[in-house]
Amino acid sequence: MAGSGTDHLRAPQDALIRCENLVVEFPVGKSGLKVHAVSDISIDAKPGETLGLVGESGCGKSTTGRALMQLPRPTGGRVLYQGRDLVQLPGAELRQLRPEMQMIFQDPISSLNPRRRVFDIVAEPLRIWKRASGAELTERVNRTLENVGIDPAVADRRPHQFSGGQCQRICIARALVLEPKVIICDEPVSALDVSVQAQILNLLEDMKATYKLTLVFIAHDLAVVKNVSDRVAVMYLGKLCEVAPPDDLYANPAHPYTAALLSSIPVPDPRIRPSEENVLGGEIPSPIAPPSGCRFRTRCPRAQDMCAQVEPKMRQIGLGHYVACHFPLEATGPKPGAAQLAAKRAAVPARPVAPPRPPGTQAF
Ligand SMILES: Nc1ncnc2c1ncn2[C@@H]1O[C@H](COP(=O)(O)OP(=O)(O)OP(=O)(O)O)[C@@H](O)[C@H]1O
Ligand code: SF4
Ligand SMILES: [Mg+2]
Repeated sequence: MAGSGTDHLRAPQDALIRCENLVVEFPVGKSGLKVHAVSDISIDAKPGETLGLVGESGCGKSTTGRALMQLPRPTGGRVLYQGRDLVQLPGAELRQLRPEMQMIFQDPISSLNPRRRVFDIVAEPLRIWKRASGAELTERVNRTLENVGIDPAVADRRPHQFSGGQCQRICIARALVLEPKVIICDEPVSALDVSVQAQILNLLEDMKATYKLTLVFIAHDLAVVKNVSDRVAVMYLGKLCEVAPPDDLYANPAHPYTAALLSSIPVPDPRIRPSEENVLGGEIPSPIAPPSGCRFRTRCPRAQDMCAQVEPKMRQIGLGHYVACHFPLEATGPKPGAAQLAAKRAAVPARPVAPPRPPGTQAF
């Protein structure tokens, strides 16, 4: 299979976590067909960095996140954590590394066991790994709950007695209690309303600084990803399209799919009419039989014959800016709808700010 290239990867020794040519395929019953969920994806994150992974529903974001965690092990490729290939690591050795890599899931309520008390949910990793017991365990659980804005006095309640935002705080506490180095955040705010989203994003930023975390932040919302990421990778149908620092990606999208995603961000201003130019037509093709060449070609307004025959490789077009496209927007003239895109981007709020909370109170 032709690859999407690895030019955008930094030096291996600089990355805390890195995957090379990652492939994840799922068999379709006994038909012999396969779902090509992730096809030759390479990404990396330096220590302390937040890598945003964005794309529309079904493009393979969660599968990529889970493959980084070896849940399950990928079909092909390498996943390097501190230089060690997790794919080749025997199960017992992989298990020893698990406390250093945690995951936060999209649906906070269903990812918490409804039968267990919040204290026990957060304490469980410490108990499993025998990291603390007795008074020390209580102190670590309470401290972690306090750090995420949950009052330890209510830790004897069960998840259904908390709001969605509080449940996501509990999930974050559970992920943090072992003091991991990497957290894969799989759409951690998608199930929450906008004001609670802002609180959880701010909390993740604060926890990132407190615990010196490296984050892989998965989302389908470009505005959310822009505000939290140091680098953004755009995915389409199991492939990577574009990798760039967020400001550059927003100001100068080079891949037609990135431009289409940006133009689909709703503008909170009735005077700005939606642009028709970058609106995506058609449906996302089936990952069981993805298009030849460039997978975006069936929906791309710029597609040419070559796009059906040759898969584009990732190549550099600016400082830290890489694109996998034969005819990127910069190279062939002014971007379609550039003026409207600029107006829309200006309307995307900077990092959402949570309403101030009186000291001693907890957010919901
Ligand atoms: N266990 C599985 N068995 C078969 N197919 C799967 C499995 N998990 C995911 N897929 C398929 O792989 C593709 C990628 O799924 P994935 O959940 O990674 O997408 P996503 O980008 O996270 O989407 P969303 O934004 O909706 O969460 C989809 O076509 C999905 O149906
Ligand atoms: S390679 Fe061709 S089809 Fe693919 S995004 Fe670029 S122009 Fe469009
Ligand atoms: Mg997903």
